Amino acid sequence: MPFDQSVSHCAAIALERLWPTVAKRYARHKNRHRLPVFQQALQQDFAQLYSCLVDLYGAQWDFYFHLEQTLVKAAQAWMDASDDHRVYQAEHNDWLQSEQTIGATGYVDLFAGNLRKLQSQIPYLTDLGVGYLHLMPFFDVPEGDNDGGYAIKDYGKLNPRIGTLAQLKSVAAALHDNKIRLVLDFVFNHTSDQHQWALLAKAGDVRYQAYYWLFRDPAEKAPYSRYLRDIFPDKRAGCFTWNEELQAEVWTTFNDYQWDLNYQNPEVYTAMCSEMLKLVDAGADVIRLDALAFTWKQPESNCENLPNAHRLIQAFNAFLRLAAPGVVLKSEAIVAPDEVIKYISADECPVSYNPNLMALMWEALATRQTKLLIAGTQARSGLPADTVWVNYLRCHDDIGWAFADADAWSVGINPQDHRYFLNQFYTGQFPGTFAAGVPFQADPNTGDCRISGTLASLCGLEQALLTGSSTDHAIKRILLMHGIVLAFKGIPLIYLGDEVGMLNDYSYRADPNHHNDSRWVHRVRFANTGADQRSVNNSPQNQVFTGLVNLIELRRSHPVFGFGDVVVLPSVAESVFAFSRTYQGQTLFVVANFSERLCQLESSQCLRLGLMDSAVDLLLDQPLAPSQGLELAPFQQLWLLGV
Ligand code: GLC
Ligand code: GLC
Repeated sequence: MPFDQSVSHCAAIALERLWPTVAKRYARHKNRHRLPVFQQALQQDFAQLYSCLVDLYGAQWDFYFHLEQTLVKAAQAWMDASDDHRVYQAEHNDWLQSEQTIGATGYVDLFAGNLRKLQSQIPYLTDLGVGYLHLMPFFDVPEGDNDGGYAIKDYGKLNPRIGTLAQLKSVAAALHDNKIRLVLDFVFNHTSDQHQWALLAKAGDVRYQAYYWLFRDPAEKAPYSRYLRDIFPDKRAGCFTWNEELQAEVWTTFNDYQWDLNYQNPEVYTAMCSEMLKLVDAGADVIRLDALAFTWKQPESNCENLPNAHRLIQAFNAFLRLAAPGVVLKSEAIVAPDEVIKYISADECPVSYNPNLMALMWEALATRQTKLLIAGTQARSGLPADTVWVNYLRCHDDIGWAFADADAWSVGINPQDHRYFLNQFYTGQFPGTFAAGVPFQADPNTGDCRISGTLASLCGLEQALLTGSSTDHAIKRILLMHGIVLAFKGIPLIYLGDEVGMLNDYSYRADPNHHNDSRWVHRVRFANTGADQRSVNNSPQNQVFTGLVNLIELRRSHPVFGFGDVVVLPSVAESVFAFSRTYQGQTLFVVANFSERLCQLESSQCLRLGLMDSAVDLLLDQPLAPSQGLELAPFQQLWLLGV
């Protein structure tokens, strides 16, 4: 009989051989009572970790060493963790799907100044119902331009302007006391060129040179660079940066000071596992995998979304499951929808941004037509069990038109031309547009660009205020957009400042560190958002804020918004977007008008949507007979709950 070489068998043997090292190491540990639980977890989950690592690194001469390192690190994290945190995370595992969970995201310094002050702002967040808070990276970064914190020098240290590690832990504990989960970025595709590893590499240490991608010979680089796209084309062409000290080109997908890590080196994987644990230790409940699509490189490919990038993320997931079960990974894949979906699974990223819904909502707002929104979401809203979308309108980054070409063609739209139109529209160049956005990374070669701007400025509030015209439509657009995100299935994410209708802030243009990155137009200091006006009756800030709070409260009072399945309904009128949610025998219909024109739905159209005979509209708090016909005012949405 041939001997058994199946992965599960090999994993079991490997575990048998490695376990005594772990057991011996922790035999006298103060938490040694946890050891049997860890051993049990290994019986269940070690095979997955092993299988990922064999695929990635099995051919390396020192594979076994790295496997052992990984196991030991996981054991250490498990054994050393504080009880409070563990218990907290184990107890609350259905929060991801819950209607109670509202997400918010922002910068500590812009929102509050620093961590200490952030702690005193927690009541503001709890008033909004926030249960998921993504704070932009605040770790040690070089002074000056650091990509808004995404060029990290050291995960063990905080940017002193933001606070200390002790303050971070205290903020995390305070957030947890208020049932708010903390989401932190794991910027694992690259480090700052000032990171200790990069400094050692520059000083000639070959061990650390192997942490990065260095090319001394252009012929060696050619097969890797052939199919790459420029991520920041208006800053520089290409993805490589010449380094004098190394006399080599360094792979830098993003800015020239962000050095891509070389995951073909298993030591990089294990070193980054340790870095990830620092986030867990600081109190992270969700780890946002920054720029995950770019992490694996392979000759003669575009080096995005490669199968081994998935394997690598699965390896991090498997590691985390052992080291800190309860902490979940979130995907930041802002790529084509068919690629986005591949990152989402319980074994890879249980949480993901939903860039498709985001882009398509902006598309529908510009065109006043919902056919692409319907086509694009009908096919793509379903997710594997135990995974969830994060639905959003704006975040700290730009808007890219990441809908699927095939979806556009399916409704008779030429995707390239349409993206061109959308860029013109949202940068205020299309005649009659309401939007005041700014181009981001306009590519002189392709004519392509992405869009920066706040929710309110892109919805027309800036233009209305500037020209002294009515703000009515702009505010309705803002609330329509918020409403869809709050009613759809997934965690609704608010970009802090958008809840009060903050406008673009153009002062970045005078800042030498930011002037060439238009994303700073929507990275606004909270004091400049007009938030203090939110209690002034009928101010735009007040209308947006109170409207949004009302939507949030309604969402949080009906479980159907959380666990209910979503079905996007067929098109019955040019500007109407409708979907249903069902949960435990209860059905809710959302019917929304994306146009400034009144929209009359005949009974036959309502029946095609499957609307009920008798409902209450949660927003107007009024009984309606939807199957007999509906009238939708400009930008009106109905939340119809069957009675
Ligand atoms: C992610 C971040 C973005 C950053 C990039 C490089 O996309 O969201 O802000 O520029 O990664 O780290
Ligand atoms: C990430 C995102 C991309 C974004 C860029 C900078 O690469 O995937 O969409 O434009 O970061 O913000």
